[in-house]
Amino acid sequence: MNVLIIGSGAREHAMCYFAAQNEGVQRVFVAPGNGGTALMGGKVCNVSLTAVALDDLLQFALDSDVDLTIVGSEAPLELGIVDLFRRAGKKIVGPTQAAARLESSKVFSKEFMQRHHIPTAGYHVFHDAFSANAHIESTLKHYPQVIKASGLCAGKGVFIVFDKEQAKSVIRELFEKRIFGDAGNEVVIEEFLPGEEASVFALTDGTRYRLFLSAQDHKRIGDGDTGKNTGGMGAYAPAPLVTPEVMQRVEELIIQPTLKGMRDEGSPYTGFLYVGLMINRGEPFVVEYNARMGDPETQVVLPLLKSDFITALQASVEGTLDDVPFEMHRRSAATVVIASGGYPDHYETGKAITFADELSVLDGCLVFHAGTALDAGHLTTSGGRVFSVTALGESLRESIDRAYRAVEKIGFEGAVYRKDIGAKAL
Ligand code: AMP
Ligand code: GLY
Repeated sequence: MNVLIIGSGAREHAMCYFAAQNEGVQRVFVAPGNGGTALMGGKVCNVSLTAVALDDLLQFALDSDVDLTIVGSEAPLELGIVDLFRRAGKKIVGPTQAAARLESSKVFSKEFMQRHHIPTAGYHVFHDAFSANAHIESTLKHYPQVIKASGLCAGKGVFIVFDKEQAKSVIRELFEKRIFGDAGNEVVIEEFLPGEEASVFALTDGTRYRLFLSAQDHKRIGDGDTGKNTGGMGAYAPAPLVTPEVMQRVEELIIQPTLKGMRDEGSPYTGFLYVGLMINRGEPFVVEYNARMGDPETQVVLPLLKSDFITALQASVEGTLDDVPFEMHRRSAATVVIASGGYPDHYETGKAITFADELSVLDGCLVFHAGTALDAGHLTTSGGRVFSVTALGESLRESIDRAYRAVEKIGFEGAVYRKDIGAKAL
């Protein structure tokens, strides 16, 4: 069979790597892919179509006999790629446009959680600056508070504010300066949840679901969780915070009611469901849903899946998820992201990349590319996050140490990475 993976990050490189391991898979196409997927060779082949060129992607899938398509990132989901492929009789892993609103509309997801009594922060929704400011003046007594643009903002639409002035300034940015355009037309102001964050990922056919291991991301650019928010600077799995008891609470209080709620409302949720959690004294609360796998979390949870990835995905689109194995390795994984200097603000690209020779012999390491390009045989940087270097180990400590040993062997001008990935869990 032939597989098409849509996206260009380290998450999609990891998906290509594990898809290619299935012996029944003849071709793995990745659109548009990156320098790392270009270097894979064998079954894997980059296709120069962007992730949002929906009609072209469908035409490619039809012309190239693609049997299964996997959507990596949220943008094509919000545009309705799953509806489009299904109408054409093509199998695809992901939620429909209506179901993807769990991620693409924070207002939808908050109201959905309220309707179904799913634990999350209390909130109010605003459509204009006047009513938001009135709420800030008259109702808000305790800080911090969290202000969120409702639409997709590439992870940048969330502001934690510590006083009234900051709150009003964010409201001005969203409604008057319109820094996120239409994605900021609706705004959520919600309670700040104390606790520790972790993420849980499910693969579902709408009714049945299977869980990957939990993971913890590192969203800030700087060590000790300082500086600006990024797409994610590293992750590890499993997250010790998510004990079997917590996982059971997450299933009963969050995953099951979410799937049932979506079915009852006529938009069954299919594909990957990412639940971003705040865990406070063993009690989970939903911070956000994402309609896809996480990046960099995929780079730690997929290597820990012992069962075949493609077999599970096929079962999820055929409604036979209960009949396939979905077992995990009893190991740990860590991934460290190497970014371009200046990221998440302005950064330069086109830097030559060098690998120390010993990298190829570092046992248990997987170097997933994100912002790299292969130009006439030369690998150069082409994005903010450039690599996600994953290592497995018998313990978290071992996987972290291994990942950092590999990171030190990769070089390009201005490269930056966090030195404390996983430190919190040790
Ligand atoms: P989101 O894009 O909704 O995941 O938010 C980005 C980050 O903001 C989260 O990973 C949390 O660290 C933080 N955050 C969002 N909502 C809350 C909340 N209600 N309480 C505390 N922190 C939050
Ligand atoms: N790592 C956060 C995300 O994928 O949204």
